[in-house]
Amino acid sequence: MCGIVAGRTVRPVGTYLVEALGRLEYRGYDSAGIATVDDAEQLLTIKTVDRVDDLGRQVALEPRLWRATHGIGHTRWATHGAVSVRNAHPHTDCHGRIAIVHNGVVANADALRAELVAGGHLLTSDVDSEVIAHLVETHLARHDLHTSVELTVNRLEGSWAIVVLDVRTGGLVAAAHQSPLVMARSSHGDFVASDISAIADWVDEFRVLEDGDVVQVSPVARWRRRGVPVLASELRPCTVQPGDLSLGRYPDFMSKEIDEQPAVAERVLDAWATGASGPDLWRSLALPPFRRVAVLGCGTSLNAGRAIAGILGRVGNVPHQEIIASEASDAVLEPGTLLIALSQSGETADVLRGLDALEPAGASVLAITNNEHSALGRRADAVMACHAGTEVGVAASKTFTAQLLTGACVAVSALVAHGRLDPFDAQRLTSDLKRVPELLSQALAASRRSVPPLVDGMTEARGFVFLGRGAATVFADEGALKLKELTYRWAESYPAGELKHGPLALVEEGTPVIVVGDQDDRLAASIAEVRARGGLVTQIGGPAADIPALGHSTDPYAVAGLPWCGPLESVVALQTLARELAVALGRDVDKPRNLAKSVTVE
Ligand code: AGP
Repeated sequence: MCGIVAGRTVRPVGTYLVEALGRLEYRGYDSAGIATVDDAEQLLTIKTVDRVDDLGRQVALEPRLWRATHGIGHTRWATHGAVSVRNAHPHTDCHGRIAIVHNGVVANADALRAELVAGGHLLTSDVDSEVIAHLVETHLARHDLHTSVELTVNRLEGSWAIVVLDVRTGGLVAAAHQSPLVMARSSHGDFVASDISAIADWVDEFRVLEDGDVVQVSPVARWRRRGVPVLASELRPCTVQPGDLSLGRYPDFMSKEIDEQPAVAERVLDAWATGASGPDLWRSLALPPFRRVAVLGCGTSLNAGRAIAGILGRVGNVPHQEIIASEASDAVLEPGTLLIALSQSGETADVLRGLDALEPAGASVLAITNNEHSALGRRADAVMACHAGTEVGVAASKTFTAQLLTGACVAVSALVAHGRLDPFDAQRLTSDLKRVPELLSQALAASRRSVPPLVDGMTEARGFVFLGRGAATVFADEGALKLKELTYRWAESYPAGELKHGPLALVEEGTPVIVVGDQDDRLAASIAEVRARGGLVTQIGGPAADIPALGHSTDPYAVAGLPWCGPLESVVALQTLARELAVALGRDVDKPRNLAKSVTVE
C-alpha cells in the first residue's frame, strides 16, 4: 500500500519521479505527490487527488522543476485520514526544511502527535506519517540527517518505508522496517523505490533494504542497521522484462495478463516440471520431511494455496489445512507440518505477520511467490519463484495460475520423495501438467467467444452466486472474488451442496448463478433448484456448456482436463467474465476502487 520513490538524478528529477509513480500506482491511487528543491533552494511540492497522469501534467508545467535534480514522490492508498490534497504525501515539517514520503502505518502516531503539538509543532494533516517529518525536524537541530532519521525511527512503532529529503542540504535518507524498499544506482543517478519495477528502465542491479536499515542516498551510501554501520546489502540483478510494463495491443493490463496465461504456464513448467516427475525438485529445496501441509495466504494467493492443498490431499492423502493469513494467530499447527506461504508480491503484511504468529510452531516454510527478493522470499526456508512476470492489474490473474502450477509441480515431486506417489504415476501427472498451456489456450478461445454475449444479460444483476463441487469449489471462490473486485457487485460462492442450506434464499428471477464444472452428477440437482426459482444458470464446463472452457473442448473424445488438479482452466473463463462485466459497467479494471495490489498494512 502506497508507493514511494526518490531520486538524485543527472537529468531533471521530476520526469523520473512521475514515470516511477505511474508504475507504482498499482500500490494505491487515492492521491499522488512529489517534493523537490527549486533553484532558490526552497521546497517545492506538487500534489493531486487525481491520478499520476494529472501530477505529470502539473509537473510538466512547473518551470521551477526543470532544473531540480533530487526529490521524492508518493502514491497513496489511504489508511489514516480522508483522501484530500492536505493528506497527500509528501509531508513537511514546520519550516519546510524536511519533506517525507512514507509507506506503512505509524501505530503510535497519536501519542507522538500529542507530544509534538505540546512541543510547539504545527501539524497540518490527519495523516500518521506527518509526525515523521516533525520528529526529524526536532533532531536536526543537533544531528546530521542520517542520525536524525535514525533517532526518529527509534521512536516509531508499526511499519515504515520512508525517504526523507532535507531541502537545506539536498540530503536524502531512506529507512525501512516491515515495508519494502529497494535502492539502486546507475548512470541515471541514485534511486530508491518501493518496488524495482518502478525504476527498472534506469537500473540493472539493486539492493534491498532490510528491517532496521537507515541509509544515506548518495554516491557513497552510508548504510546502518539498528544504529550499527553495516555493509550495503547484496546486489541483485533486475529481471523485470521490458514488455511486462507496457500494454502493447491490449486495452488494459487485466486483458493482457489473462491472455498471457498459456505462455506463463509454459514458463512455469519449463522451470519446474523436469524435476517434478521424481523426487529431485523436492530434494533441491532441502526442506525436512513433512506429514501434513498448511497453506497460508490472502485473497487469490490463498485460493491458489487451497488448490495446491487439494492436490496434496487428493493425490497423496496428505492432511491439509488452510490458514487465512490475517487469522493465523488462532491457527494450531501439528508437528511435522510443512507451511506453504503464498503471496505474489511477497510483501503482504498479513502473510508476514501470519508467519510471525506461526513461528513458535517451528514448521518449515516454503514460499511460492512472484518476487523472490521480497520479505517473504528472504524469510522462508525455501523459495519457489512462480515466474509469472510483473503483474500490473490490481486483480491477480496470471499469478494465480503460476502459483497453482508451481505448487502442483512441487506437490507431485514431494509426494514421490515421501513415498506417497509411485514414480510411474508421477510421470503421468507431469505429462498431464504439460497439457495445461494448451488447455488454457482452449479456455481462452472459448471464453472470448462465449462470455461477451452472456454478459449483456448480467449488467443489471445486483448479486451473483458461484457454485462448484469438490475440486471445483476453490475455482468458484476465485471467480466470485474476481467478480467482486472488478465489478463492485456482490458475489457469494458456495460448494453447490450448501445452496439448499441458506444461499438459495438469494436466488430470485434472473439472479445469475455461475456453476463451475459439469463432471459431478450432483451438480444437476443444484442447477435444477436454481432454475426452479428463476435463477439464470451459466455453466462453465465441457463442449455442451454455456462457456465450453473445460477440457480440450475442440476434441469431444479427449479426456477432460486434469481432474486431480481440479478445473484449473475455468479460471480463465471466470476472469474473462469478471473483466467483461466490469468493462460493460464502465469500471477501471486495472485499478478497482478502494484496492491496492500490494497490501503492506495489516
Ligand atoms: C487478488 O485479485 C487480490 N488483489 C488480492 O486478493 C490478493 O490476492 C491478496 O491481497 C494477496 O496478495 P499477495 O498475493 O500479493 O499476497
